[in-house]
Amino acid sequence: MSYPIERIRADFPILAREVNGQPLVYLDSAASAQKPDCVIDSESDFYRHGYAAVHRGIHTLSAEATSRMENIRAQAGRFINAASAEEIIFVKGSTEGINLVAASYGRHFFSAGDNLIITEMEHHANIVPWQMLAEEKQLQLRVIPLLADGTLDLARLPALIDSRTRLLAITEVSNVLGTVNPVREIIAQARAAAGEQFVVLVDGAQAVMHHRVDVQALDCDFYVFSGHKIYGPSGIGILYGKKALLDAMPPWEGGGSMIRTVSLTEGTTFTDAPWRFEAGSPNTAGMMGLGAAMDYLDKLGLDAIQAYESQLMVYALDALAKVPDIILYGPDHRAGVIAFNLGKHHAFDVGSFLDQYGIAIRTGHHCAMPLMAFYGVPSMCRAALALYTTHEDIDRLVSGLTRVQRLLG
Ligand SMILES: Cc1ncc(COP(=O)(O)O)c(C=O)c1O
Repeated sequence: MSYPIERIRADFPILAREVNGQPLVYLDSAASAQKPDCVIDSESDFYRHGYAAVHRGIHTLSAEATSRMENIRAQAGRFINAASAEEIIFVKGSTEGINLVAASYGRHFFSAGDNLIITEMEHHANIVPWQMLAEEKQLQLRVIPLLADGTLDLARLPALIDSRTRLLAITEVSNVLGTVNPVREIIAQARAAAGEQFVVLVDGAQAVMHHRVDVQALDCDFYVFSGHKIYGPSGIGILYGKKALLDAMPPWEGGGSMIRTVSLTEGTTFTDAPWRFEAGSPNTAGMMGLGAAMDYLDKLGLDAIQAYESQLMVYALDALAKVPDIILYGPDHRAGVIAFNLGKHHAFDVGSFLDQYGIAIRTGHHCAMPLMAFYGVPSMCRAALALYTTHEDIDRLVSGLTRVQRLLG
């Protein structure tokens, strides 16, 4: 395979670092990915040579910054194949995107007695906003259950949908199990069964860095992802929404940049979507970094990344299965992450030992407590594969775990 892994790794300066006297093995990219030079440089270049407030000034710097921001909006639209740039809202990240939909669309269009469907594998970011809304508006929250193999029990979906079902909020890829949900098929099936007022939100936080996403082909109404998980900056992300829906949605935060007119006697009129949902001064440097991250992924090619990561995943699952006492969670076919426990040892103990060997993994409940409850464990370890992960990284993880298993017994 002609995937230039060494050249790619050289783009990420932090990967050359040592941790606890050992070369770093970074397997926590699903929590937050490391940044290539082009992303770091794009932010600092913007601050050095292009910085100004957007949307407010008529001077050259402000106009330039505004046009760069709008170009990145269009780029983000192309990245997930939105029909137009006006379907793209800049948010802080996936969490804010989901909260925006709940606070604007949900508060406005859902009423007491309606029901919403989520799944048992959701990240807290795609559970808690809906629970809060359900409490506020007296909605019912229904859940597609998990199966022991880490896939969803989709046979249960038809029984969950009725004429009062207003929303399905579902992750494309599980942040714990790596399960790739067949969202396109699920959406088609749900739409056929639900009424006209039914919408679908897809949480793409763990998907967009692993394969190409086409929101039009998925036929979702909303889609969210976070910059920091796709090798871009933190504090910036994207909410996609179908234009007709965004046009019908009221603003959720008030302030500068989202108004048309403000009068102390006549009240306020609001500007058009998507700007209506972007109150206040935005994270413009983050946008520059996000643009550079999407460029980087495009240049490498998501198909090439997916092919590389898929064979690495097969290698990693096979190698990890040989570690004595390991318990692996999730299906064979998956993207990005491998969750496991080492016998009865708490994930924190395993993670702390691995850290001594320079290996960074995630430990804890992974913001998915319902999923932990399903498997009857308080925590799991999680190794994440990224476009810069090597076979040697996996070998170091396996030998580190074997050592920990011998030490802890
Ligand atoms: C599946 C999933 N959804 C949502 C989020 C929340 O993303 P953020 O913290 O960037 O808003 C995460 C983060 O781990 C995630 O993995």
